[in-house]
Amino acid sequence: MSNEASEIIFRPGLEGVPVTHSSICDIDGLKGKLSYRGYSIEELAAHSTFLETAYLLIWGELPTEEQLNDFQAEVQMHRRVSFRVRDMLKCFPATGHPMDALQSSAASLGLFYSRRAIDNPEYVYDAVIRLIAKIPTMVAAFQLIRKGQDPIQPRDDLAYSANFLYMLTEREPDPIAARIFDRCLILHAEHSLNASTFSARVTASTLTDPYAVVASAVGTLAGPLHGGANEDVLAMLEEIAAPDKASLYLEQAIAKKQKIMGFGHREYRVKDPRATILQGLAEELFARFGKDQMYDVAIALEREASSCLASKGIYPNVDFYSGLVYRKLGIPRDLFTPVFAISRVAGWLAHWREQLGANRIFRPSQIYTGKKIRSWRPIEERNIEMGA
Ligand code: COA
Repeated sequence: MSNEASEIIFRPGLEGVPVTHSSICDIDGLKGKLSYRGYSIEELAAHSTFLETAYLLIWGELPTEEQLNDFQAEVQMHRRVSFRVRDMLKCFPATGHPMDALQSSAASLGLFYSRRAIDNPEYVYDAVIRLIAKIPTMVAAFQLIRKGQDPIQPRDDLAYSANFLYMLTEREPDPIAARIFDRCLILHAEHSLNASTFSARVTASTLTDPYAVVASAVGTLAGPLHGGANEDVLAMLEEIAAPDKASLYLEQAIAKKQKIMGFGHREYRVKDPRATILQGLAEELFARFGKDQMYDVAIALEREASSCLASKGIYPNVDFYSGLVYRKLGIPRDLFTPVFAISRVAGWLAHWREQLGANRIFRPSQIYTGKKIRSWRPIEERNIEMGA
């Protein structure tokens, strides 16, 4: 696009620019409302399970009992990953970030199931099952491998979330802890056109295979402005260290124009409804298993922020309390974002299917700001001032 196209309005970050029609998720950022396929997040988090919610997101309706049983059974059957995938994970450096291991292993699934028959409903169903089933196994496997241990196999008598916590910690989890974790997965399963979902849709629009779609979304989710923020929230709370230091920290951070991690959201001008639910889950966990001192710091920070950030529409987002919940569940800090991916794969797959239903390859334009056409110069005639 040339400079003459000055009537084009450029919106950095595509803020407010619709790029698709979608019937998956609705956000009312002024009222703090979020729904999946018309069901409020509060109702789903209270009554549904992650697998039922994933089914709802991907296929559009809540499953019947028979459909849910089949879906759960299929996911359970495909939890194991090939020894080749495990061997590949063993070759990765133990010091590498688990999101990089997940991105690579998700992409590698395309080598095993690569037919790209994306117009075949059976292939689509199988790909959905495999991705939902195998991602938790790969996350848990890398965790054990990097500690120098062999990954443990999924346990068929454990439901989806309980099995993941078992594969990760090698202990059968308390049923209440497993249910709280399952509710966290529901809360993170979908959130319309965030960066990773947009990335998934762009990749999907090329008609590549779903493993490439998910791998591209995982790579996008890894950044600290997106899925990586809850790791930074815990680091920030630890730096603040005590509730009475929250005010000074906030003052200094704002003066230095530093972002407060876990605050602010492109869509919400009020507190993220998921943050409210997560705060309740944190309290439930602390009541049963003992408090995390950092929770008091978080409460103090939220209280102090209400006087200086709330006026700008900046409130706690989903990442503010999730790290505290995950830490209490025994999940290592650098697995917080992979856990987000375990959940968000449901949303990515829903968008993958929706994109294929009315596909047009994404190819936005740009406003060119580079040099006008000029002549090539032989190397002996170039100098630094010319910027050659
Ligand atoms: N702390 C302090 N100020 C913040 C802020 C935060 N967490 N988030 C936004 N702001 C301020 C910006 O400094 C800017 O102020 P200005 O207009 O005076 O310059 C204004 O709010 C708009 O910020 P901007 O970064 O343009 O908003 P955005 O919609 O592009 O960004 C986020 C949204 C999520 C990327 C941003 O809020 C952020 O970086 N938050 C921290 C990281 C985080 O928690 N991410 C998880 C998101 S679920």
